[in-house]
Amino acid sequence: MSRTGTGLDAVGAAAPRPQWSSRLAFILAATGSAVGLGNIWKFPYITGENGGGAFVLVYLACIAVIGLPILAAEVMLGRRGRHSPIRSMAELARVDGASPRWAWVAWMGFVAAFVLLSFYSVVGGWSLAYISHAATGAFTGADADTIGGLFGGLLGSAPTLTLWHSVFMLMVVVIVGAGVNAGMERAINLLMPLLFVLLLLLVGYAVVEGDFTRGVDFLFAADFSKLSTDGVLTALGHAFFTLSTGICVMMAYGSFLPREVNIARTVVTIGVLDTLVALLAGLAIFPLVFANGLEPGAGPGLLFVTLPLAFGQMTGGALFGTLFFFLLLVAAITSAISMIEPVVEWLEDRGVPRKAGALGAGLLIWALGLCTVLSFNHWAGFHPLGFISRFEGKTLFDLFDFLVSNLALPLGGMAIAIYAGWIMKPELLRESLGLGDGLAGSLFRFVLRFLSPAAVLIVFLYNLV
Ligand code: PFF
Repeated sequence: MSRTGTGLDAVGAAAPRPQWSSRLAFILAATGSAVGLGNIWKFPYITGENGGGAFVLVYLACIAVIGLPILAAEVMLGRRGRHSPIRSMAELARVDGASPRWAWVAWMGFVAAFVLLSFYSVVGGWSLAYISHAATGAFTGADADTIGGLFGGLLGSAPTLTLWHSVFMLMVVVIVGAGVNAGMERAINLLMPLLFVLLLLLVGYAVVEGDFTRGVDFLFAADFSKLSTDGVLTALGHAFFTLSTGICVMMAYGSFLPREVNIARTVVTIGVLDTLVALLAGLAIFPLVFANGLEPGAGPGLLFVTLPLAFGQMTGGALFGTLFFFLLLVAAITSAISMIEPVVEWLEDRGVPRKAGALGAGLLIWALGLCTVLSFNHWAGFHPLGFISRFEGKTLFDLFDFLVSNLALPLGGMAIAIYAGWIMKPELLRESLGLGDGLAGSLFRFVLRFLSPAAVLIVFLYNLV
């Protein structure tokens, strides 16, 4: 029976649509999207830069209060729409009596996901390069100059970066092209448990070989004097990035979600798992950094310079270093497949078969990725918006990252919150999220109507100045 009339399904069940085979399958897929370079690379280094514990607390609050409600709203809109995000938003706007321009939110997400994957794949490729460095013993006993030279050498070589970027994109295309169940779900069922096992192994290594107490202290002892306004806003911005909310990627995943799954409860599980991975990554990294007398505040080089230096000094460093970069690769792949999904779904809506869509989209994204590759070497001096003081010295890669992380994610998140909180009828919102008439439902709606948009507006304005 079609439930179009109830507003729960905007488009009805006319076209057969694949579904995640269970609630767990969706949780693993969405957690796979959420857990990525953001958790294992960015979270530890921004925590390091912002002084540790107090930053972590604020980050947790941002996830719980702002990130999760928006994530729930996004998944819910995807499930109601049951098509690619662009078509879903257009249909939902029609059913909910809103302006067709709401589809623009999904268009923005589409472009953002495309650009995001183009550079995410290049950075994902670094993990491949580092697996080979670690496995061949390149870190063993090496000094800071040698390790710094490895990273500089990788970034300086366009052919090497292109090679790893190509391998990474190929894996993404193969997985997504094979289909929702036979490709993505199968890969995720294998990769996510592997990710958790690897992470626990690495934390175990940090307990045995690292300065674990100092690592724990650094992550959990909150010293608010170390936290700046900048730090608070970074935490809020990262809450969006890490949950993959704002650019309709989770909407695309939500479109395969079986009707009976309770969204509110499910996103809490996803948020908890995502946070757990980020914290465990911190617990795997900082004890090694401290045990070797290194600095936690190295910025983006924390993983690619500081950590290899630590592995190079430690017993079992070659093995565990290899495992660490393999973990980074697994995390990056399961996120990358979610980024190409809205593009492939949009092509499917237009009658392009999934395999061809994945290949075509993959090729275009790969080609755009070459701009990122070049911005680390031949085009390092090319600053297209250098005439604007805000963008002075920014390469194409920096601009792509700014466009996605600082503009599209918060703006999209705000639009989704506004749609769910202001356009949808309160009863429909509650029912589609799986919330009852009680306090939880009212609180959720309040957050979506007022708190989330206001918070996003603050980050957004802050990022512009
Ligand atoms: N959540 C991913 C990470 O933490 O690495 C990044 C990401 C994936 C952001 C998908 C946005 C997105 F749509």
